Amino acid sequence: MQVTTLKSDLKYCGRDKPAFPLEIVKSKDGYLYNRDRKKYVDFLSGWCVGNIGWGNREIKNAIRNYKGPDYIYPNFLYRPWTELAEVLAEITPGKLKKSYRATGGTESVETALQIAIAYTGRDKIMSVEGCYHGNSIATLSLGSAENKDSFGNMIHNFYRVNLPLDDSAADKVETRLKNRDIAAFIMEPVICNLGVYIPEKGFMKRLRELCSEYGTLLIIDEVATGFGRTGKMFACQHFDIEPDILCMAKAMSGGYAAIGATITTEKISLMVEGKVTLYSTYGWHPLSVAATLANLRYLRKHEGELLENVHEINAYFISRLLKMNFRQPVNINAMGMAIGVDVGDSKYATKLMLKCLKKGLILSMEENCLTMFPPLSIDRKTAKRGLDILEDCL
Ligand SMILES: Cc1ncc(COP(=O)(O)O)c(C=O)c1O
Repeated sequence: MQVTTLKSDLKYCGRDKPAFPLEIVKSKDGYLYNRDRKKYVDFLSGWCVGNIGWGNREIKNAIRNYKGPDYIYPNFLYRPWTELAEVLAEITPGKLKKSYRATGGTESVETALQIAIAYTGRDKIMSVEGCYHGNSIATLSLGSAENKDSFGNMIHNFYRVNLPLDDSAADKVETRLKNRDIAAFIMEPVICNLGVYIPEKGFMKRLRELCSEYGTLLIIDEVATGFGRTGKMFACQHFDIEPDILCMAKAMSGGYAAIGATITTEKISLMVEGKVTLYSTYGWHPLSVAATLANLRYLRKHEGELLENVHEINAYFISRLLKMNFRQPVNINAMGMAIGVDVGDSKYATKLMLKCLKKGLILSMEENCLTMFPPLSIDRKTAKRGLDILEDCL
């Protein structure tokens, strides 16, 4: 039966909104290709997934040459699990040491919430208004007090602080934490889901201190920002803070397999043993682990050059964006290869995004912001090509 992909997709695939009219059949380096071989500059990287660019031979070979068991029952021992957990303990900051297996970001955040609730014996969580930490009912509930009718409001033990994250916000957090009933404060260290919002350093420092003072665990969600996205392996390292729990997924495998992890300290892990249910049937599937180990080997081997490139291309993006003729003055939030341009109007942002797509540039948007997450390995020529398209569309 011959039907177009879009028609079949509409008929058979469940979605919350229709797909973009774009069928991708190939990915290579910083580009995606459609069925007609049209080439698109990829400033999306699957939304913070393909950090090292597409088509990495070392990872593809690791998957192709995998000869281990098809599946491992979660309660068995498996050497690559230990190996991966050890690597995560090495690359994450501070005393983070014990990793819990997950299939993706939502599960990793759910695990973090469970751990915090079990560890503190408290059942309330604090987050940033408008945040996104996943697609389950609990993680959606972290997001906003506004969506009264949505699934994201079915759980009520959530409290939020509004942007901007400055000294006054820290005061508000302190007022709430003083009650000593908040199990955890959770946030992205650079909020990719809010147009790449960068909190004040002072806020982050005080938040860390307040959490310690009032017995609240600090959960840092690095699902989007992890693995070099912001110019350091993990974005919390820009603020010199050590989380109690760190969540990761997305770029953990570079896009080659579904995987996530929640890492915490030995002390916290010991205290919650037997109190939480952390079974995950497909968490750290052997093939995903093979891909992830290869990705992390590659990332660590090339960390210096990749992060140097991020630094250089970040400066190039900023200098080009500052000279562009947007309809009104824009705010640019950029940390490494996480770049948000607040154009002041969501309709204008949507129009620009769709125009860029037609002309061969893929980027994303959140509210009034255009967001760009190019691969860390993007070269100057590809960056120029994408930015030229954006400039042309203004
Ligand atoms: C910060 C953050 N946390 C958690 C998630 C959920 O991750 P996943 O879609 O892998 O469940 C996302 C997804 O976009 C995210 O951006």
